[in-house]
Amino acid sequence: MKKTILITGASSGIGKATANLFNKKGWNVSATMRNPDTVNDLNETSSLKKIKLDVQNKESIIRAVELTQQSFGQIHVVLNNAGYGAVGPFEAATDLQIKRQFEVNLFGLMDVTKAVIPHFKKNNYGLFINVTSLGGLMTFPIFSIYHASKFAVEGFTEALQYELNPFGIEFKLIEPGAVATDFATRSLEMFNTEEYPDYDIILQKTQDFFSNSKVSSSPEQVAEIIFNAATDDSKQLRYIVGEDAKQIAEYRAKLPYEDFRNMIKGQVLGTNFEI
Ligand SMILES: NC(=O)c1ccc[n+]([C@@H]2O[C@H](COP(=O)([O-])OP(=O)(O)OC[C@H]3O[C@@H](n4cnc5c(N)ncnc54)[C@H](OP(=O)(O)O)[C@@H]3O)[C@@H](O)[C@H]2O)c1
Repeated sequence: MKKTILITGASSGIGKATANLFNKKGWNVSATMRNPDTVNDLNETSSLKKIKLDVQNKESIIRAVELTQQSFGQIHVVLNNAGYGAVGPFEAATDLQIKRQFEVNLFGLMDVTKAVIPHFKKNNYGLFINVTSLGGLMTFPIFSIYHASKFAVEGFTEALQYELNPFGIEFKLIEPGAVATDFATRSLEMFNTEEYPDYDIILQKTQDFFSNSKVSSSPEQVAEIIFNAATDDSKQLRYIVGEDAKQIAEYRAKLPYEDFRNMIKGQVLGTNFEI
């Protein structure tokens, strides 16, 4: 029997690469996105449907799940991938910017999960794959709101697997380091720091750190790991993706927390950095 995956944020980057890969591997793909009409480089076939889904709109989530079932029947895997980064000094973030980050990265993911749980429970079978980030395991300056949303998804997922595994529902977390998508250009919302010039040097140093860091993975490589996670029949929860992420995660696991924090501070801001 052909299996079916529903993907959020399939219009670009990791979501689109994953839609293409699963379809190539013979799966039915419900490629959900906010604006299907504007995405011309993902072709619809009998086994790939572009379906409208905005994770900030519950009705569109419920409708997309219904349409997926109408097109393909049973849903086997949901890839919660939609997300963006609200970035800048926390003090400069507006309430709206903070709330929207959580509405998309966390509450939207929760709403998609809630909409599919009854279907998975009925089938006593289903897998949620949640895309977080290396930034769901450790932090950098300037990204506090994004990190908070991804740490939240990590905690949510880890707790939920205890309560839904008994119903035949499994969970996986995909934690990429830097991926060569358009995330940095199309999916970063920078806070207005005009009134906070005292953060300029921290912003500059953090931007320099990321500009000088190597991008480790392509979206296609992340898609391969997602396919592996969907099909390896293992109970493995976390999949760290990319050499950059693996190296930092290893330091995080091995070093005492103070030493790890000093290492990140030294690398990004300089060891004795003060204002
Ligand atoms: N790129 C990286 O370095 C990196 C590293 C670690 C983790 N990640 C995570 O990977 C995921 C995918 O990012 P990407 O790198 O592939 O970037 P991307 O190409 O910019 O993709 C982001 C996707 O999220 C969608 N999205 C944003 N808001 C949405 C909403 N309200 N409802 C539905 N979809 C929405 C976007 O849709 P529109 O086309 O409608 O904007 C787009 O399809 C994100 O969760 C991101 O946090 C990325």
